[in-house]
Amino acid sequence: MHIAIIMDGNGRWAARRNLNRQAGHRAGARAADAIVRAAARRGVDTLTLYAFSSENWFRPQPEVEALFGLLRRYLITETDRCLGESIRLNVIGRRDRLNSTLRAQIEQSEQLTAACSRMHLRIAVDYSSRYSIMEAGRRLQTIPLSAPGDYLRHLAEVDHSDPATAEVDLLIRTAGEKRLSDFLLWECAYAELLFLDCLWPDFDETAFAQALEEYSRRQRRFGRIPAAQDAAERPGG
Ligand code: FPP
Repeated sequence: MHIAIIMDGNGRWAARRNLNRQAGHRAGARAADAIVRAAARRGVDTLTLYAFSSENWFRPQPEVEALFGLLRRYLITETDRCLGESIRLNVIGRRDRLNSTLRAQIEQSEQLTAACSRMHLRIAVDYSSRYSIMEAGRRLQTIPLSAPGDYLRHLAEVDHSDPATAEVDLLIRTAGEKRLSDFLLWECAYAELLFLDCLWPDFDETAFAQALEEYSRRQRRFGRIPAAQDAAERPGG
């Protein structure tokens, strides 16, 4: 099972406490940490967290710098924990606009955890799904496509991700907004969408368990009809 999360609401969480936005992002990183561990314990195969969208570059410079500082520290501490819990860490998105220190840290975290197999943790940084789709299309101009899966392979190459774990089963967005905001548009084609009012720093293991319960109640049909009905409508069924 692949869960992808748009971790929204750090700023509002901070504002309600008269704190600055950076404090909200720090609380958001702590929540992310707890959810990574909860997901691994509950047997989630892949967890993707949207940490920095390509549009986030347009936020005030101090906030952008704080987010990247947080990300680098997160990668350093998380790599050790991931090794301890056999979690494979992978950063998806563009790398050409990241500074060389962060790029080196990403490569190191990925190399060290490459053989970990309990869960695949993907952190989306400088990620834009529309950019990825366009770039994969541009690279494909001379190569014939035989199946949608082929496209996913090229998309994964652009994103530095793995086509085997790219398709999303459940997308969660916190903080009330009901939109995808350029996140995994191709990969969410058949995902169940869950929009929650809770602000990201308040999203804890109980909220995560409730989200999984809600998902288990959804009926996924992938454009088909339920199996039982299908059988009943066959001749002799
Ligand atoms: C959206 O909240 C959140 C972000 C733009 C950044 C997400 C980053 C984190 C949760 C911390 C870093 C995460 C990791 C995994 C290291 P917002 O600031 O848009 O909130 P608002 O809509 O209430 O202003």
